Amino acid sequence: MAATDGLRLGVNIDHVATVRNARGGAVPDPVRAAKLAEEAGADGITAHLREDRRHIGDADIEALMEALSVPLNFEMAATEEMQKIALRHRPHAVCIVPEKREERTTEGGLEVAREENHLAHYIAPLRDAGCRVSIFIAADQRQIEAAHRIGAQVIELHTGAYCDAHADGDMATRAAELEKLTAMAAFAHDLGLEVHAGHGLTYDTVQPIAALPEVMELNIGHFLIGEAIFRGLTPAIAEMRRLMDAARA
Ligand code: PXP
Repeated sequence: MAATDGLRLGVNIDHVATVRNARGGAVPDPVRAAKLAEEAGADGITAHLREDRRHIGDADIEALMEALSVPLNFEMAATEEMQKIALRHRPHAVCIVPEKREERTTEGGLEVAREENHLAHYIAPLRDAGCRVSIFIAADQRQIEAAHRIGAQVIELHTGAYCDAHADGDMATRAAELEKLTAMAAFAHDLGLEVHAGHGLTYDTVQPIAALPEVMELNIGHFLIGEAIFRGLTPAIAEMRRLMDAARA
């Protein structure tokens, strides 16, 4: 198993469930993918139980909790239903993400500053239950300060805008987004928050993020599951691990 110099790779297996659900049957099994990811060097597994259950389902979370030897990072919206599920399973980490039914993926970071009171009360029982609470946010100082004030231990910086700019060939925006991520990773770390990052990362975009010394974990899903079609899941993950380690060195 991988954990090298502190930069962990969390593999998100949501889209194995997306393919399974396209036919409504039992295959491909996200738990099998998660076990394979563990063997391939994933330091953790991430799964997002959405309100509409469009990919991961309740039974998947149950099966992952039973099967995994690495920690589960349970992504969820800040709803009462999800809080109950998280408190029942007590995963290693809970990552609070914004969720809109109509979106294709998690489009932005959580608006923590406007919801500070509510979120502080919301995460308290999760922390008390022993879960590390992570908040998925944009690289924005106001949101990071609010995440710190509500008692989150971890923030996950949204790398989507940086990755989109890269894909569009918009190098000016890419540089500006990377600058924000760099500054805000350092800012959050100085506040005492553990810093994670993720969303949209690929072989082409991972290295500048992996090189940020404050970043302790990357959560990567869609690209890896797609790449697995061409080279298999184990080599796809091994290549990501290699790129991360090279950037870190
Ligand atoms: N981190 C968070 C908080 C996410 O919501 C997602 C997407 O579910 C990811 C990381 C992984 O993003 P991607 O699938 O684009 O690699």
